[in-house]
Amino acid sequence: MIQPQLIVGPGALGRLLAMRLSDLAPVTLLGRRPPPESLCLTSPDGQRLQRRLTGATPESLTAPFRGTLHLTTKAYHAAAALEGISAKLAPDTPLVLWQNGYGVQRTLTRRWSGPVLCATTSEGAYVTEGGVVHAGHGETYLGHLDGAHADLAEALAALLSRAGLRCQAVGDIDLRLWHKLVVNAAINPLVARWRIRNGQLRDRPFRPLVEALLDELEAIMHAEGIAPPAEGWHGRVWRVIEGTANNRASMLQDVLAGRPTEHDAILGPLLEAARRHGLATPQLSALYAAG
Ligand code: PAF
Repeated sequence: MIQPQLIVGPGALGRLLAMRLSDLAPVTLLGRRPPPESLCLTSPDGQRLQRRLTGATPESLTAPFRGTLHLTTKAYHAAAALEGISAKLAPDTPLVLWQNGYGVQRTLTRRWSGPVLCATTSEGAYVTEGGVVHAGHGETYLGHLDGAHADLAEALAALLSRAGLRCQAVGDIDLRLWHKLVVNAAINPLVARWRIRNGQLRDRPFRPLVEALLDELEAIMHAEGIAPPAEGWHGRVWRVIEGTANNRASMLQDVLAGRPTEHDAILGPLLEAARRHGLATPQLSALYAAG
């Protein structure tokens, strides 16, 4: 019997996980307000699946929860969301952190009594009124920040892969989080500030801004001792821009919806690292100040 899966945060990623896992395990989707009881998943090939899910709020969650907890809230809300239900969780509950950025992962890995894994995904999804659209398949990587709990990571990666979200357990999630952070920092704040789609970064006046940002990001990563991806920092970022040219990035979606953004979670750790190494970051600092 597969352990129950509790998904905290009914945004696009939370809904996608809940719908994909619900054929394999008992799933509860938890939000601050009661999530819809029935959701529709539109898969990348256009198929529509309707599922009834168990919805819960922090108040209605039955204690003690025994199973796996996936925390899919925005980075700025993750610590408070966990705090709000921690009294109802068995202390050895495995926790999977799905946040962008780099910061809350270390804090919660230190703070939580059970095993903590971090995930980074390039699955594309967005929320619709009655459900979620799985816009495009991507890759998910899962692991403990210091490479511990390899068996748990393997078991969860196998479960996610069976659920249709291709996932690999890795021993270097720390490095992969940094790589994702650089991609997010080079794209998200700029497209959110200028309200443009990712592909417009290829054109003037934005292209030189991306290049200047990349030079600063590359210097920070070098000083931190973070190895570049095989295609290099510039190659990686331009490939993602090309591949997501028509997308509105997550931070732009937040701005357009009037929600708080992940500005701090994305730029904060990079500016902090730059300060530690005495590096000047005029582009990053200007974007931070503008946000
Ligand atoms: O945050 C996002 O939207 C994505 O991580 C990315 C890579 C910037 C593509 O839109």
